Amino acid sequence: FPVAVVLPAGGSGERTGLTTPKQFVTVLNRPLISYTIQAFERVSWIKAIVVVVAKETQDLMQSIVHKFHHVKVKVVQGGSTRHRSIYNGLQALSEQTDGSAFTKPKVVIIHDAVRPFVEEDLLLKVTMAAKDQGASGVIRPLVSTVIATTTEGYLDHSLERAKYRASEMPQGFLYDVICQAYQRCSEFDFEFGTECLHLALHYCNTNAKLIEGLPTQFKVTYKRDLAAVESIFKETLS
Ligand code: CTP
Ligand code: MG
Repeated sequence: FPVAVVLPAGGSGERTGLTTPKQFVTVLNRPLISYTIQAFERVSWIKAIVVVVAKETQDLMQSIVHKFHHVKVKVVQGGSTRHRSIYNGLQALSEQTDGSAFTKPKVVIIHDAVRPFVEEDLLLKVTMAAKDQGASGVIRPLVSTVIATTTEGYLDHSLERAKYRASEMPQGFLYDVICQAYQRCSEFDFEFGTECLHLALHYCNTNAKLIEGLPTQFKVTYKRDLAAVESIFKETLS
């Protein structure tokens, strides 16, 4: 069955403190996002990737995409929030009906462009679970206890750590389910939070199967994460 990937890459990476968005930062002579695309290119059953970027980085992204020959990559314009960028990416898969790689897939995988260490084994688990259950995601145990704070900066209450998990990527969805969820959600939800699984659960009442991921498949959030990515690639390439 056809599987497509949406890679949101339309953020500005504020938390890195760098002027270049983290997905375009050079890691061992190549932009970070090219490693993520390469990880998908290596998976034979993935035929189409939609990369969603900010308007001002579309030309740069096109020049990166030209270097990939074994998977079809389409570049589309993102939005002001992650949800909007993902929505635009999903739309790009509904426009074509000509049987090309970008024709409406059965399952869509959503994965952050700034998570270059994604592996085929996890992609397969997420994809199969999404096909059977409607939606699927990756989780990790929490390192810290999560507490809720008051707006004045006092402790409100704390959550029982064992009951909660960190939500990671990739996530998989039946394409029709996630599209319907985005169509049904209100403008408020659209801006609220960044969790696609929540939308699918809330608006389509689907199951969301959770799969435990590996700590090595982390997201680049801070500058130090870029340094970690570089040293990992240095090790694996030497
Ligand atoms: N993203 C996007 N469109 C947005 C915001 C985020 O496509 N309007 C993407 C980012 O490019 C990234 C992924 O969503 O690949 C995960 O988001 P995050 O790690 O928060 O990235 P940024 O929003 O760029 O970083 P920050 O929150 O530090 O500004
Ligand atoms: Mg962000």
